[in-house]
Amino acid sequence: MSEVSLLEVAGLGKRFPSRDGRSDARWVIQNLSFSVRDGEFVTVIGPSGSGKSTLLNMIAQTDAPSAGTISFKGAPVSNGDGAGLRPGLDCQIGYVFQDDTLLPWRTTIDNVLFPLEAQGRLDAHGRERAAALMDAVGLTGFERYYPHELSGGMRKRAALIRTLVYDPPIILMDEPFGALDAQTRVQLQEDLLRLWEAGRKTIIFITHDIAEAIALGDRALVLSRAPTHIIGEHHIDIPRPRNLRDIYAAPQFASLYEAIRAQVQ
Ligand SMILES: Nc1ncnc2c1ncn2[C@@H]1O[C@H](COP(=O)(O)OP(=O)(O)O)[C@@H](O)[C@H]1O
Ligand SMILES: [Mg+2]
Repeated sequence: MSEVSLLEVAGLGKRFPSRDGRSDARWVIQNLSFSVRDGEFVTVIGPSGSGKSTLLNMIAQTDAPSAGTISFKGAPVSNGDGAGLRPGLDCQIGYVFQDDTLLPWRTTIDNVLFPLEAQGRLDAHGRERAAALMDAVGLTGFERYYPHELSGGMRKRAALIRTLVYDPPIILMDEPFGALDAQTRVQLQEDLLRLWEAGRKTIIFITHDIAEAIALGDRALVLSRAPTHIIGEHHIDIPRPRNLRDIYAAPQFASLYEAIRAQVQ
């Protein structure tokens, strides 16, 4: 992991106008700062409604900050007025949502290839990369299936590799495994870590599950209730590769869990 900070969020704030238009705008995020190093896996835990998705939307540049700055590779990318937003930062930012958002009328492989196609860079190399990723998550043989013919876990795998296929330097993940059953969730976590260890992309992974934040991350950030800011930072020194099925048995686990739980409440 390099020491260079790839992403820097400084004094970030976001407010939304009140519904009635008369009372003052409500700050959802206020004075939130953190930085992420190249190749780092950062997990973010926060209560529901604290502004986690709003934070990712601003990093992905689908929404503009009301205060503060976001810098990517040392250059500011957001100036607050929303005019210069570049959603996805020219394909440098991948985004995996909680819903798998596959296109129902496209087969699995055509869903996975979609970003390359949309970016006009679908070539033999891209197809090879897609096939290798399909294989890595056990989807070989399901290329011609449609999303409704896949299990929830398979759809989630397809959504995950659809983001990896175009190789963005940063991947944002918004509670991606929240809706899965416990068994499938661990399998997906294992797939994700295996893929990440092979390529070491930078990942910002939102979750409300403390165990998941510890199991996956190099570092876990804890958010307060809205107006949200960071109230805790925990370095997770559990060696990799990690055995996710027995993560609870890691000697560092209990004290990390307790420290994070105390802040989340
Ligand atoms: N576009 C919007 N307009 C007005 N309020 C919004 C908008 N997006 C989010 N909010 C409000 O901001 C708060 C944080 O939302 P969100 O970021 O989705 O929280 P989380 O992802 O942590 O559950 C919520 O109270 C939500 O209602
Ligand atoms: Mg959310």
